Amino acid sequence: MSAKLIKGTEIREEILEEITKEVAEIKEKHGKVPGLVTILVGENPASVSYVTLKIKTAHRVGFHEIQDNQPPDISEEDLLAIIDKYNKDDDIHGILVQLPLPKHIDDKKVLNAIDPDKDVDGFHPVNVGRLMIGGSEVKFPPCTPAGIQEMIVRAGVETEGAEVVVVGRSNIVGKPIAVMMMQKGRGANSTVTVVHTRTKNLDEHCKRADILIVAAGVPGLVKPEWIKPGACVIDVGVNRVGEKISEKTGKKVAILRGDVDFEAAKEIAGYITPVPGGVGPMTITMLMKNTLNSLKFKLGLM
Ligand code: GUN
Repeated sequence: MSAKLIKGTEIREEILEEITKEVAEIKEKHGKVPGLVTILVGENPASVSYVTLKIKTAHRVGFHEIQDNQPPDISEEDLLAIIDKYNKDDDIHGILVQLPLPKHIDDKKVLNAIDPDKDVDGFHPVNVGRLMIGGSEVKFPPCTPAGIQEMIVRAGVETEGAEVVVVGRSNIVGKPIAVMMMQKGRGANSTVTVVHTRTKNLDEHCKRADILIVAAGVPGLVKPEWIKPGACVIDVGVNRVGEKISEKTGKKVAILRGDVDFEAAKEIAGYITPVPGGVGPMTITMLMKNTLNSLKFKLGLM
């Protein structure tokens, strides 16, 4: 058997089209567009490329967007003052501080300073709490887990009563996706197990999964014999395992590998996400969705 590929690149296009249409409708009816500011401290090359793509995508869907770049030696106090300025700005509905921050800045303090009703990353403790309560309390689910759930739904995979095994317990992916899949509601109602580096018999847990979500950061961790035939396998791992020269651009690019042994796994799984082009493109897409929803909450449309 060869698994059906769940392509994030295709689902991204579908969702961005939907967002663009909705932004135009809201602009027409209410005279407002979602506003997103990205705050980047320093020039970490990976962060620069992420932020550039976030701003480019925000522009594409018709948002008001601000790319606020700050020098690497900005003081914590000055950064907090910038956040305060955007908290008070009525044209800004989403504030994103790109991580990691330089060592002299306390990232917890910075993330906690963002107005929870503009925290489109979903990292503020208030939004983590809202996610835990579930249902209508949830405002901004964190973007990568929200993207994973959306992919599962749009692929038509049944989650109701499904055995979901999450490999990894990070605050950004493992913990929130586990909570989201066990809640009542669309794309959820699953029975969830979370496994991690201290779990005994990792393979035995994985073998029970109808939906296996792997966010361990270990290239090729999940072997084909750990996969239940027909299961849905979501590979969140993006591991740089080397470099190559791109045939398209002639430039050096990273060779990326997921947490799952893709070539062998695709012969056993029913559905599988590729790396790259799987979960990756969904994170920025869901950031756009959260920013749109932030304006909709403000206008009383949600
Ligand atoms: N750095 C890497 N990924 C992310 C993300 O999703 N949000 C923020 N704020 N910083 C990041």
